[in-house]
Amino acid sequence: MAGQRILFWPCNKQGAPMASHYKNIVILTGAGISAESGISTFRDSNGLWENHDVMEVASPQGFSANPSLVYRFYNERKKQLQSIEVKPNLAHEALVELQSKLPGNVTIVTQNVDDLHERSGSRDVIHMHGELLKSRCLKTEQIFKTLGDIDELSICECCQTPGNLRPHIVWFGEIPMFMNQIESLLHEADLFLSIGTSGQVYPASMFVQIAKLGNECKTVEVNVEETAVSWNFDEKVQGPAGETVPVIVENILKGHF
Ligand code: OAD
Repeated sequence: MAGQRILFWPCNKQGAPMASHYKNIVILTGAGISAESGISTFRDSNGLWENHDVMEVASPQGFSANPSLVYRFYNERKKQLQSIEVKPNLAHEALVELQSKLPGNVTIVTQNVDDLHERSGSRDVIHMHGELLKSRCLKTEQIFKTLGDIDELSICECCQTPGNLRPHIVWFGEIPMFMNQIESLLHEADLFLSIGTSGQVYPASMFVQIAKLGNECKTVEVNVEETAVSWNFDEKVQGPAGETVPVIVENILKGHF
C-alpha cells in the first residue's frame, strides 16, 4: 500500500506476533467509505450532489426558499439508501470485525447520513451530521425513525400538527451533533483513522489536529487521493476503502500497524 511504512513487526518473546496495543481507536468516516456501496460522494461531482447545488438542498436557507425541493431530495436519497443495490461494503464489514475483535474501544464518528455502518453490524456509531432515516420536529426537537417520505403535510407524532417535520440532517451553517463527546474521544485516542473524507468541511477537518493534542496518537488517512488535510497525518494509505480498510484492520488486529 502506497504511503504505508511498516518498519518491523513486533513479536513477543516466543516469536509470535503481538496483539494490538491500541486502547482507544477513533475512526472518522466520510462519503468515500460509502462510494463503493453505490452512494455518491459530495465533491467528486463538482460540488453537485445528485445533480443539485449542495446549498439548495442542504442549508436552512434552501429549506426556507423551497421546502418541497428539499423534502423531495431527501425522500429520493432515502429511497436510494433502502434500494436493493445499496449495501455495506468490505470497508464497513472490516470495521465491524475491528470493533468485535479488538479488546479496546473502537468508536466510529461518521459524517455520513446513511445507515451502512449500522446495517453491517457496527455499534458505537456517532452520526455528527444526522441520519437520513430519521426526521425531527421543528418545535419539540423530538427525533423519529422515518423510513418513508415526509413533506409539508406530514404530521409529527409529538404535536400532531402538519408542517413541523424536517429531515434529521445537519445542514450547512448548523452545528454538528455530539461535538463534546467527539472531542473527549479524540483527546483519549491512541489511533485516529480518517477514511474517505475530503477534509473540506469544518469541524471534522480539524479532528486530526485535536487527536494529535492527546496522548501520542497515531494518525492515518485512507483515501483514493491527496486531500486538503493529508499533510496533517502521520501516515497515508492510498486506495479504495473496500480494498485498503480490510488490510489495515487485519494488521491492527495482528499488532502490525
Ligand atoms: P466529500 O465528497 O467531500 O469527499 C469524499 C472523499 O472520499 C474524497 O476525498 C474522495 O477522494 C474520497 N473517496 C472517493 N471514493 C473513495 C473510495 N472508494 N475509498 C476511499 N476514499 C474515497 O465527502 P465528505 O468529506 O464526507 O455534510 O464530506 C463532508 C461533508 O460535506 C458531508 O458530511 C456533507 C457535505 O456537505 C453535510 O451534509 C452536513
